[in-house]
Amino acid sequence: MTGLSIDQSRCQGHARCYMLAPDTFLIDEEGYGHVIEGREGAYQEEHVRKAVRNCPERSIKVIAP
Ligand code: F3S
Repeated sequence: MTGLSIDQSRCQGHARCYMLAPDTFLIDEEGYGHVIEGREGAYQEEHVRKAVRNCPERSIKVIAP
């Protein structure tokens, strides 16, 4: 599958993804990050790229087509 995804085995709930790109990431009730449905293709947007770079666990993956 192309686009953004979060590796749940690596996410530690730092929430920087949500703070930097709240239109693309959400935090679930247990504090872990997820890509908002329909926003998997937003990886080229600058604020989303910044969020990807700022995850301390490097848990946000981008698979370009
Ligand atoms: Fe998880 Fe990284 Fe976001 S640890 S909550 S994907 S900043």
